[in-house]
Amino acid sequence: MSETALPFNEKIIPPSWRDRTVDIEEFKRLREESLKNIEEFWAKIAEELPWFKKWDKVLDASNPPFYKWFVGAETNMSYLCLDWQLQQGRKNKVALIWEGEPVNEKGEPTEVRKLTYYDLWRETNRIAYMLKNKLGVRKGEIITFYCPMIPELAAFLLATARIGAAHSVVFSGFSSQALAERIKDAESRIVVTADGMYRRGKILRLKDVVDEAVKQCPTVEKVIVIRRVGLDDINVVKGRDLFFDELMEDVPKNVYVEPERMKSDDMLFILYTSGTTGKPKGIVHDIGGYAVGLYATMKWIFDVRDDDIFFNTADIGWITGHSYNLYGPLLTGLTFIWYEGAPDYPAPDRWWSIIERYGVTIFYTSPTAIRMFMRYGEDWIKKHDLSTLRIAHTVGEPINPEAWRWYFKNLCNEDCAASSTWWMTETGIIMISHTPGLKLIPLKPGTNAMPIPGVDADVVNEKGEPCPPGVKGYLVIRTPWPGMLLTIYKDPERYIKTYWSKFPILLYYSGDFAVKDQDGYIWVLGRADEVLKVAGHRIGTAEIESALVQHPAVAEAAVVGKPDPVKGEVPVAFVVLRQGYNPSPDLVKELKVWVRKSIGPVAEPAEIYFVTKLPKTRSGKIMRRLIKAVLLAQPLGDVSTLEDEASVEEVKRAYEEFKKLLEGQ
Ligand code: WT7
Repeated sequence: MSETALPFNEKIIPPSWRDRTVDIEEFKRLREESLKNIEEFWAKIAEELPWFKKWDKVLDASNPPFYKWFVGAETNMSYLCLDWQLQQGRKNKVALIWEGEPVNEKGEPTEVRKLTYYDLWRETNRIAYMLKNKLGVRKGEIITFYCPMIPELAAFLLATARIGAAHSVVFSGFSSQALAERIKDAESRIVVTADGMYRRGKILRLKDVVDEAVKQCPTVEKVIVIRRVGLDDINVVKGRDLFFDELMEDVPKNVYVEPERMKSDDMLFILYTSGTTGKPKGIVHDIGGYAVGLYATMKWIFDVRDDDIFFNTADIGWITGHSYNLYGPLLTGLTFIWYEGAPDYPAPDRWWSIIERYGVTIFYTSPTAIRMFMRYGEDWIKKHDLSTLRIAHTVGEPINPEAWRWYFKNLCNEDCAASSTWWMTETGIIMISHTPGLKLIPLKPGTNAMPIPGVDADVVNEKGEPCPPGVKGYLVIRTPWPGMLLTIYKDPERYIKTYWSKFPILLYYSGDFAVKDQDGYIWVLGRADEVLKVAGHRIGTAEIESALVQHPAVAEAAVVGKPDPVKGEVPVAFVVLRQGYNPSPDLVKELKVWVRKSIGPVAEPAEIYFVTKLPKTRSGKIMRRLIKAVLLAQPLGDVSTLEDEASVEEVKRAYEEFKKLLEGQ
């Protein structure tokens, strides 16, 4: 997004929200008040949750950047999400509405399950019992999950938390190789999966992927298989593979497993995400701080009420799925929806039919999805009654003003609180957004609005000093916040280096570029590092490069992001071949499949170009910046460190040839 084209001055107040809307100065005062003493501020919110034992200290900042929240406090996430909800009278309230993909001839789902808070509590207790007593799962051990969005998974994750174990959920679209890497890093003894799942009318065989991955993982002792589709031809390794239904057969229907008393700063989960090296980072999250941060943001940003129906389209494989499609909704006692399948199958109105069917009031999705639906046209939306919606936020990447305007008109009927919520896997909770549940400041198409109360985010220059309005800089967070990552699993050095070392003063560095406008609204522009956001999914260029160079034909590879009208950006690869290999369309295809198999579909390069050399610095670093400039037909900028100028010409040549080819088609 170009910062000059942003609508800094456009202010929109949705009619139904007039009473909640405040002027910008008033909101700023409210925020500044919260920042005067963040410990006091967050402690007050923490008081709203029940604790087994209260904290001795709100924030331990004695060893920065290893911050600890609610030190000395004892709690349990499954207790907060379930037992506490039962205590508040939600026993018979539906917690999870689940819809499978298969439909009948009328296009209606043939499999719908509704689990009340009591159902979920029971199932969680039974699984907790099984994990503890049959598999000997211990406090602190990490269980890896490679599962579709099914109710069993929700109960499994809560059961894991109940007995004090931690989870690592790996997105079910990742390849066996990517899965293996994550299982190995987490040293999981147990992997939970399903036989398969439905997607776009096909069955994806998840257990086969796990079999392939586990071959490389000596720590794995047990693989638990949930029968989702009922495949009768899956491979079963005796002594290792256990079927979930069989494991549960003799578990009493009404067992109670006491929630483990966990320290607030114990690990709830790790979630792997991409960075600037080839190795994914295991982001570690705590329990107490995370619960408090989620509870507050659910209220402020989603303005949750007891009769809401909450529909977040994110998969559990991403942080949005963890925070706002499981723990957040449960902590606030909501009814929320999970669906199996894809947004545009059997038709591009799957989501709109879900919104209509259940009367969804709060909707959360990605800009990529919005842009995809723009292409399908408004008619698919018009077929459905979406008038129940009152909140519709997006997440994952910047939303271009045009896409925002389109959904504000067509989904929101110009009367929803509609914000682009900025946060990351690392932040755990939303950091920058409109806060309609608290006070609403006017909307602007494409903005992220202001940091929420208690969060000191800003846009700064290389020295860490605030940038004046209109000047692009780095997005940082000055002070710790509840929900923040504790560290990178088994790599505290990398934690310090990646997030806390960019500036001469101690600031959390997000890796994003941003700009503030004259009103103090923040507009996140995109990544400042070598990380791509492909359809909102985060993928490091180094990961794709390292997959490419493992192919026998590839000597060197450079991957850059290229703007894409739907996906935001897509990976494009420039490849130097080894001797004996020649460029060919077949090799392009082969390399694309190779990357897809080594990482997953999100990483597949949209285009691959063969070159004889890559632009590098004299010290041998690939200058991706120059490659990108060629792709975007932009000025090359500073080339003084370039080792061989002919290499840029080489990139240009390869790209020009391709464009000619396209024009000739
Ligand atoms: C990166 C984090 C946290 C949920 C999903 C993504 C980008 C996220 C926005 C937004 C502009 C955004 C940033 C950030 N991003 N939300 N509303 N506007 N950019 O989590 O995979 O950890 O990626 O996503 O670049 O650094 P993630």
